[in-house]
Amino acid sequence: MSDISKKILNLKKEKNAVILAHNYQIPEVQDVADFVGDSLGLSRIASNTDAEIIIFCGVHFMAETASILSPEKKVILPDIDAGCSLADTINYDQLKKWKEKNPNAVVVSYVNTTAEVKAESDYCCTSSNALQVVESIAKDKEILFLPDMFLGAYVQKKTNRKINIWPGECHVHAAMKYEEIKNLKDEYPDSEVLIHPECACGSQAMAIAEKNNDKSIHFLSTEAMVNKSREITSKNIIVATEDGIIHKMKKVAPEKNFISINRKSQCNFMKMITLEKVLKSLIDEGPEIKVDEKLALKAKIAIDRMISIG
Ligand code: 13P
Ligand code: SF4
Repeated sequence: MSDISKKILNLKKEKNAVILAHNYQIPEVQDVADFVGDSLGLSRIASNTDAEIIIFCGVHFMAETASILSPEKKVILPDIDAGCSLADTINYDQLKKWKEKNPNAVVVSYVNTTAEVKAESDYCCTSSNALQVVESIAKDKEILFLPDMFLGAYVQKKTNRKINIWPGECHVHAAMKYEEIKNLKDEYPDSEVLIHPECACGSQAMAIAEKNNDKSIHFLSTEAMVNKSREITSKNIIVATEDGIIHKMKKVAPEKNFISINRKSQCNFMKMITLEKVLKSLIDEGPEIKVDEKLALKAKIAIDRMISIG
């Protein structure tokens, strides 16, 4: 273990801090974390932890969600500029206008949104419980789903509901095309494929899998992908999401061969968090992410619904 990692672990103990890392973080950061997981899992931990300080190794909306859930805790994002291109596709004014045009609709927001957008939403969801959240809404209700159009299309297809979908996308997952999966499937015919529902390749992959009754293609959140990689029997596993997840997959299933659909599929925002920044943030106890109390209380209603479903 490096000196810097040792310093982080010692200081973390001294300050009663917990380090949470998303599955897309660089390996060194994952290795100093107390918990590595997906958005939903990390939100749950943030709402239950006894630690006084939460070092959130992820992106801004994740730290903001943790702060809303635990306002009495110091929630720290080691790089304040670690944003999310998907969360940036819709703001408060845009959502207000969309709601005005659809006054009777229920708003379901993916957790990759700002606190202002969450506060204007009825429900939040993550990729791991989006289907359950939509299924929990009365069938006759119109739904506005935002901001990811690929996840929205996936939910629409799976639930068979008529959903109005915001045309947002994440730059990393939007670049993942079905041709890449097809080429790798041809190269590794015995492989299984794990696809994050934010991927642009999702609809085509789902249509082809259904047409061919192909059971080797799975649509899962990041944590469910990690768990699936342990379960499945094929040695070769094609992974369609951000590359950082492969570090955790190799830990849980070292005997498997993980093939990323695109070696360059890295989220530049997630990769902004380094060990040096984690150490500095522990020393400085900042940058702290704080949400205005009134706004946080409003946003928390949708977040609590997300946490209680699925
Ligand atoms: P998960 O909810 O699956 O962790 O995904 C979060 C994310 O940002 C995907 O790009
Ligand atoms: Fe946002 Fe995409 Fe990065 Fe996930 S991978 S944090 S959706 S920019």
